[in-house]
Amino acid sequence: MLHCACFDKFAWLYNPLMKLSGKPREYYRKIKSISNPKKSDSVLDVGGGTGLVAEYFVHDVKRVVVLDPSRKMLEKIKSDKIERVHGFAQNIEFAADTFDIVYCVDAMHHFTNSYKKEDWKKTIAQCIKEMLRVLKKGGTLVIIEFDTEKPVGRFIEFFENKIMRWGSCFWTREEFRELFKKYSVDVRISDLGSYTYVVKIIKKFK
Ligand SMILES: C[S@@+](CC[C@H](N)C(=O)[O-])C[C@H]1O[C@@H](n2cnc3c(N)ncnc32)[C@H](O)[C@@H]1O
Repeated sequence: MLHCACFDKFAWLYNPLMKLSGKPREYYRKIKSISNPKKSDSVLDVGGGTGLVAEYFVHDVKRVVVLDPSRKMLEKIKSDKIERVHGFAQNIEFAADTFDIVYCVDAMHHFTNSYKKEDWKKTIAQCIKEMLRVLKKGGTLVIIEFDTEKPVGRFIEFFENKIMRWGSCFWTREEFRELFKKYSVDVRISDLGSYTYVVKIIKKFK
């Protein structure tokens, strides 16, 4: 079952905090260098929230879509060149093979929020299936996640699950690789800063 987003409560605070951190620009640069966007490309930001990363992409490509279940986060998107779609990663309402690039920044671990722990595996598998379905063959999926093998990553896990009680799911690199094992994809994982990793996933042609 899909639930309403807990990010509605924090939307007012999100942009000032994140802009101060400088992270959205850093993440954009990384995703751009990994995915080599072309002017004719269509890009989907899954769990894109207030569009802080997406707003950089509007200068690079033809179409930028932000998908997010929090209406309040979507309302904070500034650029009118970004298409806002209210929805969940579990059920992405686009046709198969629509996007050249799909990315997901600091969001995938939230896809389990308000699900029972016993359902996490199933719901994450469904989100991955959906992100790969809407990605064109030969396209790139980029995922940026917190690394809980690093102290700051562990603190974020503690904060989200023990203090906020959001029910966020985190993966070691090996666990992350496992999530994609059954698909015809090429997966590369590398460090990004001191507490995040970036995953480049290429959807193979066969
Ligand atoms: C920490 S914010 C990150 C927002 C944005 N990616 C960024 O980097 O600024 C996490 C986002 O994931 C969204 N989210 C939570 N559950 C989701 C789901 N099931 N499908 C898609 N997005 C979801 C939240 O609403 C929120 O906007």
